Amino acid sequence: MSAAPVLSGSTSLYGVLGFPVEHSLSPAMQNAAFVSAGINAAYVAFPVDPARLETAVAGLCAAGIRGFNLTVPHKQKVLPLLDEITPQAQAIGAVNTVRADQGRLLGTNTDGQGLLSSLEEDLAFDPRSRRVLILGAGGSARAIAFALLDAGAGHLVIANRTPERAALLAEDCRQAHPERHVESCRLEQLEGLAPDLLIQTTTVGMKDGSAPVDLAGLQVREAVCDIIYSPPETPLLAQARRLGLRTANGMGMLLHQGAAAWTFWTGKPAPLEAMRTALRQAIQQAIP
Ligand code: ATR
Repeated sequence: MSAAPVLSGSTSLYGVLGFPVEHSLSPAMQNAAFVSAGINAAYVAFPVDPARLETAVAGLCAAGIRGFNLTVPHKQKVLPLLDEITPQAQAIGAVNTVRADQGRLLGTNTDGQGLLSSLEEDLAFDPRSRRVLILGAGGSARAIAFALLDAGAGHLVIANRTPERAALLAEDCRQAHPERHVESCRLEQLEGLAPDLLIQTTTVGMKDGSAPVDLAGLQVREAVCDIIYSPPETPLLAQARRLGLRTANGMGMLLHQGAAAWTFWTGKPAPLEAMRTALRQAIQQAIP
């Protein structure tokens, strides 16, 4: 990897606010990008208690921070603290990236773009006019659903353990794209749905060694993307691979949402290969 930056009086500060945040892989990825591009900047993880988010944002802003990411549990709570929010982030109802422009805070959400770039790069999947099943209706699912519709997906089915949450997301999607077909259902109602692509956004498979659905009866036609990256192959992805489907884990989405954030801050194309290498190393080091 490239050498560490020399910190000086003119080093620009960036960071990620979360709670807890010490396991975040973003510092490794973003610092590698700054080094690779020859930008004198440092990216730090800030553990911010939810009760002190407003104070932390005001303090970092007053101290000249240039930009920051937000992760769990701050993505929604940060909205009222910002001066401007992109229409995409407004529709999603969550912000993961903020740029500080002479004290003005502009928020956006790069999660959906990250997913779309991963679909293209890792699965060679173009969502235009395609039928996509999303498992989950949380913050990640919201960003992914809006991005898929923006990219031209023809038919979305959103399935969630709590069906009311899926229904709410489907309704928000239909309001934004009334011409598209968006429906919601329960996780147990998926038999024979036959989507072209399945995207798994729930936390199931992260630690419990289980899968949110059995692919056997579902008849997925082409590909399965699980946004979990640790473990690198969840039980759902292993089953998809055995069924001969194309598979991708969450590393691509993580990489590309980070690259889109870096570009939002710097206005430059992100040094993707440096970020990918740093992310791979950080993931390997993080696996117990
Ligand atoms: P994120 O921001 O990562 O999307 P989130 O907003 O907390 O996180 O959403 C977590 C998702 O995982 C939700 O869809 C949640 O389902 P509920 O809306 O029913 O809570 C889903 N999830 C979490 N644990 C689950 C489990 N044991 N079985 C099925 N779905 C689960």
